[in-house]
Formats: sequence, structure tokens, C-alpha cells
Amino acid sequence: MGGPVPALISVIARGGSACEALHPPMPQLSRATIRETAAVLGQAVGPLFAKGMFVRRPSIVRLLHDTGAELAEVRALQALRARHGPGPVMLATPGRRLAVVLDPAHARRVLDETPEPFETDMAEKHAALAHFEPRGSLASRGEDRAERRRFNDRVLDSACPIHHLGGEMTAIVTAEAEALLARADEEGGLSWGAFKDGWHCMARGVVLGRSAADDKELSRLLIRLRGDANWAFLKPKRRSLRERFQAAVRAHLDRAEPGSLASLMPAANTPRAAPVDQVAQWLFAWDAAGIATFRALTLLASLPGYAQSARDEALHGSPELPLLRATILESVRLWPTTPAILRETDRETDWNGATMPAGTGLLIHAPYFHRDDQRLAYANRFAPELWLGGDPERVGLVPFSAGPGFCPAKQLVEFLGSHMLAHLLARIWRVPERRRLEQGRMPPTFDQFSLTLSLT
Ligand code: HEM
Repeated sequence: MGGPVPALISVIARGGSACEALHPPMPQLSRATIRETAAVLGQAVGPLFAKGMFVRRPSIVRLLHDTGAELAEVRALQALRARHGPGPVMLATPGRRLAVVLDPAHARRVLDETPEPFETDMAEKHAALAHFEPRGSLASRGEDRAERRRFNDRVLDSACPIHHLGGEMTAIVTAEAEALLARADEEGGLSWGAFKDGWHCMARGVVLGRSAADDKELSRLLIRLRGDANWAFLKPKRRSLRERFQAAVRAHLDRAEPGSLASLMPAANTPRAAPVDQVAQWLFAWDAAGIATFRALTLLASLPGYAQSARDEALHGSPELPLLRATILESVRLWPTTPAILRETDRETDWNGATMPAGTGLLIHAPYFHRDDQRLAYANRFAPELWLGGDPERVGLVPFSAGPGFCPAKQLVEFLGSHMLAHLLARIWRVPERRRLEQGRMPPTFDQFSLTLSLT
């Protein structure tokens, strides 16, 4: 028997008031205690900031690699879920509303409903990006964001597996891969430093044109600004340094060199598109793409069976190179280069009847979603098959984000990275014994800074 009278009797029998029975409390979002909040901030978020969100700090990456300490990130969020259920869970952070997303379906919702009500432009992210790209799409709202996002989608050909300038681009990749192989032959191996230099030459060539390929000074200026961005609010903006960097980018864009992405910009430009700021994000993000590709090469060098299949694909397989693309996706699943996807609610949002206030910052912690060994049988295994069918986003695998704010260069990164790998696999690479990756036991952190692959 239901209805208000029995409910009233049962509440009063429990010692509650008649008022509580007639107006049952609204469901509340789970709230972490101060202790739990400290554990989440210290163990799950702390290492991400310590490593550097915008430019990695090699010594901290090495320390995390050697100690395996990043496993604690996943454990801290698993413990939160064990106590509070699927969340989202509000943290006890005075002066700032913050929530952690713990369930793949909730992560999907937040990403699908970007940018409204879940804005990409979160206060902390804005403060960091303002150091080098104050008008970047991620740090913009409303019509500004819409125009900037459209510009990115158009120039980067975000919907196409192979960019329409693919022919020019693969010529640049081939030339750079050959230079890298020649250097490796000469030096007996390929260090991260050598790979990174070649990779950035390629990236500048693709974005700004071949005559920008050797402009290392441009990348050096950006590194200094990204170093400041690691400190967000805590470091004053270096306006004149930013202006120098922006002037150098503008000079390259003005040439609109045929075959480069810059050549597509005049047609895609609109009054609020701010191309120089979008290009700053691209030049910054090529770093992540290089890291992902070098790690993918290390995965293949550690697992010879997969390397042989990848080599066969490069020689005789589909020109879209699905296995090599999947290897890059696995590299960023296992070691996400964007470990924190941040959003901010621009209004109240409803979570199964509970209300999350406007202005709440939301954290989607990629390593927790990608390496959750309580939920995913393949958490610590190299599993390229995940990306060859099915719906990885449904289970929370979002290395390039998802929904309307997904990375507009996802296809381009897979395309150029897989071509680079196809060329490099012309040789057989060896990982130093103590750094070899073991199937089923992928480490929580991957330190590429101190790694040199040798040639057999
Ligand atoms: C391994 C390489 C890369 C990964 C894993 C990656 C991942 C991501 C992720 C997760 C986001 C969403 C961030 C957020 O919402 O806070 C994002 C955004 C973005 N990425 Fe990438 N990215 C990569 C490389 C690149 C490259 C090479 C470019 C440009 C050439 C690029 C351009 C962008 C842009 C413009 C956005 C902002 C999109 C927007 O405002 O809606 N990314 N990327």
C-alpha cells in the first residue's frame, strides 16, 4: 500500500517530522569528505600537474615512471566510486565547485553536451591557455567558440580519415622519416630527442609550409610560453614574448605556402576565427602526437608479433593503415597525452533528479577511464583490436575526447603518425632490456625522454 498517509506513518515511526514526510528531500549529488577530496587532489590530480600539463617536466616523468606512482591515480578514483557509487561526486573544495565524473555514461553525456551546458572554457584552463593562445577555441565561448571550432574543422579536415592535402603531407612525412632513418643508421639508434626534432620539422612543414620546417626558433618561443602555462594563474603573462611568437606565426601564415595548411586559411578565415591562436594550439599539440607516435613505435618494438603484422600492413595492406592507426590510439589510451578533460557548467544541470549548480568545474580523468582494471579486462594490455570495430567511447575510452569538442586533428594525427611508423618499420628496432614493454603489464607512466631505440 502506498500514498502519503503510510509514508507519513513510516517517517514518524523512524523519528522523522511530518514536514519531512510531506516534502521528502531532493536527491543530492554525492559529496566527498575533506579526506577523500585530499586523496583525489593529491593522488589523482597532483601527478598530472607535477608532470606539467602544457610542457612535460622530464625529471618528474622519470620519477613517476621509476616509482609506478601514477597507479595511485586510478586507485584513488576507484576508491571514490566504491564509496559513492557512479557519481558525479562533488569535491569539498572551498571557494570552487568541482566534481569528478566516474561513470562512462556520464563522461559521454558531458562530452556530447559540449559546449552547452558543459563549456570547454573553464576558468583554470583559460588562465593557462591565455599564456599562448588567449583566443584559442578551447578558451572561447558562444559565437567566438563556434567560429573558431568551424575554422579548425575546416582546415584540419576533421571528418576525413585522409586529409585532402594528403599527397603533399605524405611527401613531407617520407622525407622526414628518411632523414630519421639515416640519422639512426649513423648513430646506431633513435633517441626521443632525435625523433622529436624530426617530428617537429615535419609538423611545421605540414602546418606552415616546407620553408618553415627548420624554424626551430618558433618552437623554442612556444616552449617558453607553454612553460608559463604550466603555472596558469601563478605566473604573470609575458605579453611581449607572446607577441613575438604571434608575429612569427603570422609571417609564416601570410606566405600561405601551397600544399600547407596555411594555404587553406584565407578561405576558412572569418572575423572571429583568430587563426594565429588556433595555430598556436596546433603547434603545441604536435608534441603530443610525436610522443604518441614514438611510444607506438616502442610498443611495436617490444611486441615483435604485432610489429610483423604492422610491417605486412605497411607493405601490402590497406592504404588507410588501420593497424598502425590503432597502435597510435592504443598508445594514447595506455598513456593519455591529454590526461584531464575539463568542462564547466554554464547553468544548473540535472543528474537523476539531483542538481549540480552552475559554474561547477568537471574533471574527466582519462587514465582512470582507460586503465580501470576493475571494469576493463584489457586495462593494462596492448589491445589494438579495440579500435578496429565497436564503440570504444561507450566504455569511456576518449583519448581524443568525443562529441562536438573532440580533437579536430584526430584523423590527421592518425594519418601522419601511421605513415611515419610505416616508414620507420623498414628497420627492426630494439628496446633496451629494462625498458621493454611486456604484454599485459603496461606501466602506468611511460618516460620517453630517457629512451633510445636501437637498430638490430
Ligand atoms: C596525440 C595527439 C593528440 C591528442 C591525444 C589530442 C587530444 C585532444 C583532446 C583530448 C582534446 C579535447 C581537450 C578538451 O576538451 O579539453 C583536444 C582538443 C583539440 N585538439 Fe587535439 N590532440 C592531439 C593532437 C592535436 C594536433 C596535432 C592538433 C592540431 C594540428 C590538435 C588540435 C586540437 C584543437 C584545435 C583542439 C580544440 C578543439 C575544440 O576547441 O573544440 N590536436 N585534443
